[in-house]
Amino acid sequence: MKKVIERHPFEVKIKTFLSLKNKKETIMEQEKLKDLLKQMTLEEKIGQMTQLTPTFFSESGEITGPMLELGLSLEQLNSIGTVLGTHTKEEVINIQKNYLEQSRLKIPLIFMADVIHGYETIFPIPLALASSFNPKLVKRMAHLSAKEAAAAGIHVTFSPMADLVRDARWGRVLESNGEDPHLNTIMTKAYVEGYQGDGLTNKQNIAACVKHFVGYGESQGGKDYNTVDMSDVVLFQDHLPSFKAAIDAGAKLVMSSFNLFRGVPVTASHYLLTEVLRDHLAFDGVVISDWAAVSELVQHRVADSKASASKKAFEAGVEIDMMTDFYLNSLPDLVKSGEVSEQMIDETVMRILELKNELGLFEDPYRGLNDNFTIEEDLRLESRKIATESMVLLKNNDQVLPLKPTEKIGLAGSKATSRDTLGAWSWIGEIDASIAIAEAFAETEMIVDLAEQIVDFDRFQLVDKVVIAVGETGTEAGEAASKTNIKLTPQDIETVKQIYQWNKNIVLVVYSGRPLDLTDIEPYVKAILYAWFPGSEAGRAIVDVLTGKTNPSAKLPISLPRSVGQMPLHYNHYSTGRPFNEENPTIRYMSRYLDVMEGPLYPFGHGLNYSEIELIEANIVDKQNKFIVHYTLSNKSDVDGQEVVQFYIRDCVSEVVRPVRELKHFEKVSVKANGFYQGSFEITIDNLAYVHSDLKRFTDPGKFELYLGFDSNAPKLGEWEYQG
Ligand code: GLC
Repeated sequence: MKKVIERHPFEVKIKTFLSLKNKKETIMEQEKLKDLLKQMTLEEKIGQMTQLTPTFFSESGEITGPMLELGLSLEQLNSIGTVLGTHTKEEVINIQKNYLEQSRLKIPLIFMADVIHGYETIFPIPLALASSFNPKLVKRMAHLSAKEAAAAGIHVTFSPMADLVRDARWGRVLESNGEDPHLNTIMTKAYVEGYQGDGLTNKQNIAACVKHFVGYGESQGGKDYNTVDMSDVVLFQDHLPSFKAAIDAGAKLVMSSFNLFRGVPVTASHYLLTEVLRDHLAFDGVVISDWAAVSELVQHRVADSKASASKKAFEAGVEIDMMTDFYLNSLPDLVKSGEVSEQMIDETVMRILELKNELGLFEDPYRGLNDNFTIEEDLRLESRKIATESMVLLKNNDQVLPLKPTEKIGLAGSKATSRDTLGAWSWIGEIDASIAIAEAFAETEMIVDLAEQIVDFDRFQLVDKVVIAVGETGTEAGEAASKTNIKLTPQDIETVKQIYQWNKNIVLVVYSGRPLDLTDIEPYVKAILYAWFPGSEAGRAIVDVLTGKTNPSAKLPISLPRSVGQMPLHYNHYSTGRPFNEENPTIRYMSRYLDVMEGPLYPFGHGLNYSEIELIEANIVDKQNKFIVHYTLSNKSDVDGQEVVQFYIRDCVSEVVRPVRELKHFEKVSVKANGFYQGSFEITIDNLAYVHSDLKRFTDPGKFELYLGFDSNAPKLGEWEYQG
């Protein structure tokens, strides 16, 4: 095969970190930072490389509980570099003030936090945001939550999570962009652009820390913190592109992941944290460990002491030790005995000082807190709008939705009156401040009959339609929330079946942080609105969609399974030697399960709207080394709508086995009522490239099958041959 677009993974890119500022000015600043570094003792340098929670910073100046536990001295505390997880602006001001009074060199602290889908105003969970298939929406959400977090003194967010996830059992699927590398890459980039905006000199922007580098999404069995074992080809092809996009977009920090790679915890993997991250991806920012991961090298049994764990993590490339005393209490001796190089420590500390400098902390340690910034946008309204675009209408038989103003509606289910709508990582946003569905209906003119007890359901024979809201609680998905059963609760299932006896016009609303198995319940309901965890304005956003005030436009970013036993389930699985034969599904010796229908209940990319949008024409125009796809959509309904046009390929012959289909392009477009939309996009040979067994990424000459449509089962559009 002839090779084109050769690009070796380990090619080092030219560093561009000087490009943001005036070069001369930056060099001067660098000199100042170097002078500062020269004044620092070894212990002060290592202090910069440690991160602690606010509980360590008591105002009394005495050694308190957590410090005793970690065996820290006041001198060590007074040289710490960063703090994680403050709750208020006042807390930030206090900690910074006391710290600057006590510390010798008065290097301001950086405040970091998990601002994942909003700070105080909570937006939909990341998996829901990915469902919007609208990167502009994600960027806006990140921009708005940065503003709110910056006003509370936060400088860095531990977001976006760029892990590719294919297993609904894993609770952290909630924090992901789902199962597709292309969608994940586009969304990850949008988060970084949103948080960092026009740069960190703007005090309403915050720095992004992309995580978890890398492979965490493949935790075996969907169990959190579990082993990962993947090939380099999968790493380079599927898991690195989203991180590359974040780094290329300027993400300032990277967090290493808890999992193993090639048998070594990533925290101790020189291969990943240095060769891949620094040399191949040209990352020049700061690398932080995940929570206590340096000390976990001892639990993994690849180290037997603070010293050996610290040496391994540091030499692998971990620069900030989150929430342990390992670096503090062992790196100084390791440097003094010559086992760890002080020059490496200096390089690390310089990077941390540069980040502080870039955040403007030397000029203003209370960054943004004295400026009385006002947030012009109505964040609640923004959250509501964003939520309406992030919930997926999976089913809508007999056009049971939208609900009409004249109809009498029944409302039931465990979530009908629940304000538990925020989802994990909403530690500042308050549940009490969120809006339940029943509350939102009460704000409309509609007649809604609410039944909270199962015994009451006979009265639903008198209503036109029944909305049943069910699903997970906020603590059931997220970190350390893995499950083997991903069905609705028996009570939720019972509610649906009971109501079905009285009324067949059932609309199911599902709150969830993961794709649930709805197989049992699906035949009983006419419509399903998969709301995920929509955030502070959940109820209003759901009612907006149910009543047609907003036409839904989201799509599944992850397959909805028929059974938990299908995990990991994703449309872009590799071609097998014995593919499932749809025409003859009873053939035994095929790659399939005996006891469940092949494929998902609803596929990746699926999602309905209230318009009737069709693809009426499409063609491919061949250009040298690329092609253009032209298409026309028509909307035969009286409702303005949006569709997500999705383009998939299938590489007919390749050196390593490729997925059966791969999403290569998508665009969300608006089609006016009774109108048309004409669009086009370009696909280059670089879009068709893949990672070969030698880890080089290039495009082979040969044939590709092309598919265009509105979900991952899109019909075939044609073929294109790359001549090489
Ligand atoms: C964790 C998580 C990580 C988070 C960090 C700080 O345990 O794995 O995603 O950013 O702690 O809270």
